Formats: sequence, C-alpha cells, structure tokens
Amino acid sequence: MTRIVHLSDTHFGTEIPDVVRALKQAIAELEPNIVLLTGDITQRARQGEFQAAKDFLDQLPVQTKLVIPGNHDIPLFNVFARLLTPYAAYQRAFGDREFTWCGDGVGIIGFNTTSRFRHTTGLLNPDYLTRRIHDIREKIGVDALLIACVHQPLSTAWPEDHGNVLLQSEAIAHAFSALKVDVVLSGHVHVPLMTSTHAVFPTLGRHFLLAGAGTAVSHRTRPNAPNSFNVITANTATEGVPTMMLTRFDFDAGVGKFIASATMQGICQDGGWQLRPL
Ligand SMILES: [Fe+2]
Ligand SMILES: [Fe+2]
Repeated sequence: MTRIVHLSDTHFGTEIPDVVRALKQAIAELEPNIVLLTGDITQRARQGEFQAAKDFLDQLPVQTKLVIPGNHDIPLFNVFARLLTPYAAYQRAFGDREFTWCGDGVGIIGFNTTSRFRHTTGLLNPDYLTRRIHDIREKIGVDALLIACVHQPLSTAWPEDHGNVLLQSEAIAHAFSALKVDVVLSGHVHVPLMTSTHAVFPTLGRHFLLAGAGTAVSHRTRPNAPNSFNVITANTATEGVPTMMLTRFDFDAGVGKFIASATMQGICQDGGWQLRPL
C-alpha cells in the first residue's frame, strides 16, 4: 500500500498561517509515504515565496516529496526573466522541473505543463509523454500502478472551468489510456475533482481516474470550495485487485482543522477503472 498526500496551488505569498499549521498537523497524522505538490507553489515566482514553500515541505515528516511547477511559478510581470530564465527561482528551490519516482508496485511521473509563452494555458505533447511513460514502464513493470501528475487538468468539476484544461486534452487522455496510466492528478482551478474518464472521454479504450486538488493553503479559494487536499491510497495488483481510495480533506474554519469530507473507491476491473462513493 502506498499513501500519497496530494497538495496543489499553495500559492505561497498568499498562504493563511492557520491553514498552513492545520495542514502540517493533518499530514503528520496521516503519515503518508509521499507528498506531491502539483504546481502553483508560489503566487509570483519570487525567491522568498519559493523559500517559504521549501521550508514548509522540509518541515513535513515525510520521506518523499515530489513537485512540479504551475503557471504561477514562472515570472508574470518581468518579461525578460519570463522569456530567458523562467524557471530560475523554481530550480534554485526544487531542482528539476519534472520527476520520475519508482516504488514497490507504483510509479509516479510528473510533467511540467507550463510554458513561458502562455500565461495560464497548459501544454503537454502526446509524443513526449509517450516517450517518458515508456521509460518509466520499463522500470516499474507492466502491472505496476502508474500515477501521472500535471498542473492544468484534463477535465474540471465545474463547467465554467472547462476552458482551463490542458490544450489537446482529448489527445492527451487517449495517450494516457493507451499507456495504461491509472490516475492523473492535477490542480490549477482551485476546485477539487474526483471522477473517472467514463463521463468525460467515453471513447477511451481503457478508462482511468482523475483527481484534482483545490488550493491547499492560499486565501485564493473560490465560493463553496474551501482549502482542501486529497489523499490517494493505492493498493497494487500484488495485493489482489488493484484499488485506489481517494479521500478529500476540506479545511473547516470552525474547528481550525482539515476534515475528511468525501471518499471514493476506484477499482480496476476488466481493463479499466471505475469509481464509486464509499
Ligand atoms: Fe492556482
Ligand atoms: Fe495554475
């Protein structure tokens, strides 16, 4: 079993100290194997904001921390920095813009979907993702669960956000499906999402799960979408039928804590993933 805390859109620079404290406590209690942060780590890609984010991650009692950038992690107003050295501050704090992690029966691959030439739109070349997924599959084996991480989502919970999905999202979904990706984690819209691809991309050969995290600690929340994060608990094929438990934790300002507010169970049968509420 692998337990992953999936955070997104921390937007350090706009963080709420009480929510940061509550998040640290929640993660310590959950004792995950991995903490993932799917971009918009900072509000304006400033050095101090990256340092605050790094300090936060360094203080978590978790061995593995994996990050990718979001559109807010490259400079917006300094056009020269944006075009010439867009990832300089990110890389000083976190190093690589993409990652590959291989564990016991689980692989996680992180893609940088930002672009210095686009303000918010996310890009991911299907040929490029295919090459990288072939590489990780060679390492983890065909039966391992494969988790892909992007900043901009393939789909959104709210219809008004449909314009914020990755460009070529349908082609990317078909590539992920063909390559036996099991779940795609994302952020960007500050509204959580838990679904399978059945409803969104009905023609896929093999369906997978979509899990989006809201903004973990920023005051940039949206109406009816408080600060939140997701926990993914993956049980691999060696432990029976592959399953994945997705749990959303919402910040409850009344008690000053993150509370489990929704749990869905994903089951992989007949070559594809289904999701049902628990
Ligand atoms: Fe964001
Ligand atoms: Fe974003």
